[in-house]
Amino acid sequence: MQKSILILGACGQIGTELTMELRAKHGSETVIASDIREASENLMESGPFELLDATNYEAIEDVVMHYEIDEVYLMAAMLSATAEKFPMRAWNLNMNSLFNVLNLAKEKKISKIFWPSSIAVFGLNTPKENTPQHAIMEPSTVYGISKQSGERWCEYYFKKFDVDVRSVRYPGLISWKTMPGGGTTDYAVEIYHKALETGEYNCFLSEDTKLPMMYMDDAIRATIKLMESPSENLKIRSSYNLGSMSFTPAEVANSIQARMPNFKMAYEPDFRQQIADSWPSSIDDSAAKTDWGWEPRFDLNATTKEMLENLGKLP
Ligand code: SER
Repeated sequence: MQKSILILGACGQIGTELTMELRAKHGSETVIASDIREASENLMESGPFELLDATNYEAIEDVVMHYEIDEVYLMAAMLSATAEKFPMRAWNLNMNSLFNVLNLAKEKKISKIFWPSSIAVFGLNTPKENTPQHAIMEPSTVYGISKQSGERWCEYYFKKFDVDVRSVRYPGLISWKTMPGGGTTDYAVEIYHKALETGEYNCFLSEDTKLPMMYMDDAIRATIKLMESPSENLKIRSSYNLGSMSFTPAEVANSIQARMPNFKMAYEPDFRQQIADSWPSSIDDSAAKTDWGWEPRFDLNATTKEMLENLGKLP
């Protein structure tokens, strides 16, 4: 029997598209989607789905045994803005879910893990431009602290227990298929929805806040490429810097105005500004390029084109 893949957090912004892509690649029946809540009709109808709490070890173990799961993608997490409101819940979800999959691999019940980290692992003392793979990391958010701790544990399990865990530090992710939830980079998705719905957007970050961003197709391609790379090529088992483009809210507004000249942008920074100010502006991802051939495809204008054209076609 062909070994299967389990996705924890399949209903989220990344999980949804990752599930569909992995099903297209490996066949629907071998990719098991799971989440704590039911998925969209589209996802539920496309293959097996299990209601699963990523913090419950026994429940995950049951599903792993039942479907003979070989690889786990752990996409369940509480993002930066929500985590500031619920610190202990964020810590418990982000860390316990990770320990569950790491321990399943340590027990040889699964053989490969993907776990996402984030640009949030960096902090105010990190060089902001072209942030190196190895830099001072003093995350100042609950989310960033959980991701940095997670990175340390991943590397530890790799070195101590030979656990094949792979990870990237995602930048802000932009897609038209699924909304992000509770992040600081969410403005870069909301702005396209609002541009089409009302022709204006009130941004919760200041106009010159430059952050690393990526179009979802690139993020999914990176994830699958990393997972398919020969283990011996991967020199980094904490998490790889992953870059594509960097822009400010004003620059996204300009790229929208090039297609929708009447689009209006206003700025009203809230508590998320402080989070954004602690993160890098751009990322040096040369290690990912060298070790597993990472190459991004979408820049800001290509992203704006995809977003406006695809969202414009939705009912
Ligand atoms: N996009 C995430 C957030 O804003 C960062 O990883 O929380």
